[in-house]
Amino acid sequence: MGCRPTLSYHFAWTLGQRPIKGGPLLLYATSDVHIDSHELNWQLWQEIGRVCEKSPPDVLLIAGDLAESLDGWSRALQIFSHFSFQKLILPGNHDLWSRTESEPDSFSKYEKDLPEICNQHGWHYLPKNPWIHREIAVVGSCCWYDYSLLPGVHPFSHEELSQKRRGPVKWMDGFACSWPGISQERLDETLVEYFRGQLLQDLGMVSDPSKTLILATHFPFYQEFLRYEGISWDRAYFGAFMGSSSYRDILSSFPIKLHICGHLHRREFLKMDDCSVYLSPVGTVREWTVKDPAAHLQRVLLKLEVQNQKIECTNGA
Ligand SMILES: [Fe+2]
Ligand SMILES: [Fe+2]
Repeated sequence: MGCRPTLSYHFAWTLGQRPIKGGPLLLYATSDVHIDSHELNWQLWQEIGRVCEKSPPDVLLIAGDLAESLDGWSRALQIFSHFSFQKLILPGNHDLWSRTESEPDSFSKYEKDLPEICNQHGWHYLPKNPWIHREIAVVGSCCWYDYSLLPGVHPFSHEELSQKRRGPVKWMDGFACSWPGISQERLDETLVEYFRGQLLQDLGMVSDPSKTLILATHFPFYQEFLRYEGISWDRAYFGAFMGSSSYRDILSSFPIKLHICGHLHRREFLKMDDCSVYLSPVGTVREWTVKDPAAHLQRVLLKLEVQNQKIECTNGA
């Protein structure tokens, strides 16, 4: 697929910068662009650049599942490198896959290789590195799943779930990720704790109460986003891998005003006390109602204004 920008296209992108500072901070956010899944996904990524050039935000936030390979991340991030607005990103499960000889293990990608690529191309990698600015503080993590978003009563044993396979259908993290040093038996619970520990440390670094605290995670914490009515157990099985409700206490422990998440390829909104939760991913082409990158992006790119601890979604996404 044609994943490289043409030279003229690259140079056509000049520095995106908002002409007037002050007033509300403008945040654009989405997730799950999956640039390597289809040519139209790559075109949509380029379209984000065009939108940002025409109407620059203060901050662009991508909540994971950008590309499976390090090369894909480099190709994607470099075409935004000349924009002067802040670019924030965290990885999702697909970004941590390690399916080829040349790809490092998932820990190495999360802790070392992806942050290095971000440094090279002027992006801010959020895990273990909160972004704290004049108006907002953004904390980010991939987070993980531990089967807790399944219905309270379900027919699956822990062993069946940890196999990540239902009949012929595989949950690919179980086959494509590589987590050296962790026992397979309690792998997902261990990963939930690993990401949780880092996230709590990061949240602890944001101590200024005047800043609006924003949390970005790839995996959601909310069973409310899942629809189990009328579907078979064979399909419901995969709800095990959609996130973890065990992170939810974080929302009551920290004054988080906005939670942007991804992974589930559907748009959702939830109000949790004082926190607005948005899920507004790009998803894969077969899930798009209109197979046009610009039209689809208009539906899913969140445009949020942040001022005085208040957050307003300006485009109804
Ligand atoms: Fe995704
Ligand atoms: Fe994902």
